[in-house]
Amino acid sequence: MRIANIVGARPNFMKMAPLLREMRRYPDIQATLIHTGQHYDDAMAGQFFQDLEIPPPDVSLQVGSGTHAFQTAEVMKRLEPVLLERRPHVVVVVGDVNSTLAGAITAAKLGIPVAHVEAGLRSFDRSMPEEINRLLTDAISDHLFVTEESGRANLLREGVDPRKIHMVGNVMIDSLDQSRRLWERSDVLERFALTPGEYGVVTLHRPSNVDDSATLRGLLKSLGEIGRRLPLVFPVHPRTRQRLEAAEEMSGAEGLRYVEPLGYLDFISMVAGARLVLTDSGGLQEETTALGVPCLTLREQTERPVTVAEGTNRIVGTSPDRIMSEASRILAEPRRPSTPRPALWDGRASERIVAVLRNAENIAGNTGSENRELAR
Ligand code: UD1
Repeated sequence: MRIANIVGARPNFMKMAPLLREMRRYPDIQATLIHTGQHYDDAMAGQFFQDLEIPPPDVSLQVGSGTHAFQTAEVMKRLEPVLLERRPHVVVVVGDVNSTLAGAITAAKLGIPVAHVEAGLRSFDRSMPEEINRLLTDAISDHLFVTEESGRANLLREGVDPRKIHMVGNVMIDSLDQSRRLWERSDVLERFALTPGEYGVVTLHRPSNVDDSATLRGLLKSLGEIGRRLPLVFPVHPRTRQRLEAAEEMSGAEGLRYVEPLGYLDFISMVAGARLVLTDSGGLQEETTALGVPCLTLREQTERPVTVAEGTNRIVGTSPDRIMSEASRILAEPRRPSTPRPALWDGRASERIVAVLRNAENIAGNTGSENRELAR
């Protein structure tokens, strides 16, 4: 069975690593890795390949940055001939970035079955580019692998055939567990002179938070205040760096330290030792839940409600007063003993996914000349 796996941006890499590892256990699976190049810097991509022990991509599309339409279209244009030549039996896409959607559309139009890993998540906020990517990718996928029950419920409400939906757990947590021995050995806390449990970690990169200068200033104000009580380390995403530079806000505040983006192992190690995480990332809400670290999500909603219902996450929005009072509340609480993880977040999601793909009856046969016909 030929499986083409598509990655493009930073949050894809830790989802794909355990899937590739699992696929390579089976001699009957020929797994190809296609990197679209949506993220291309060493800090955003190369370091993750190294940390997660991902083999170099078989194909690099090198699309780079651009508007949403440009990036999506460029992936489609460059991917189509690759899929036509390689004729995979299934294309696997992960997450909700532009490369996810572009990969899914290109494959679906060639009649190649699409497997979407991390399907069904919904923020119900269509101003988020990821929400559009999620809705469209799910609508054309043949195998929908969900991480939490809300995902299944959302897909059923949208009329998806229940036979396509598989609750398998969370591949991001597979990565966390599989690389635990490595990130536990990271010396990142020493390098940054941090004491376990006595610092916080910040990440911000959502356009709704960083592209609007009033919102960004409000967030920085609250982070500066929190930083007086708990030193905060803020690995700055390139999008955010551009906005901070434009707003002349690169100096930070006394307790708020800007650092370069970290690799996977250093970042997880830093998060695992943190007293508190403040973020607008989707994946980090899940990683903090799995690690038992309190998380404040600086957004109005989450597409990952299980991290609130069963995890350590609180959705606090972007009002500085609310953020500061929620942070104070957490700092006044004793550290919680670790709590059970959400169902099936047990490090074995990739095993379940590959088992489903291997058993899928309809995969073989829907390839070859049929694809060429469809591509005309
Ligand atoms: C993308 C994803 C987002 C994900 C995030 C994680 C979409 C719509 N968004 O957002 O869901 O949470 O990645 O990082 O797919 N840049 C670099 N180096 C790189 C890549 C980008 O400097 O390797 C800069 C470029 O100036 C670029 C900007 O960052 O214009 C934004 O990159 P882009 O991929 O467009 O979106 P992200 O904000 O990273």
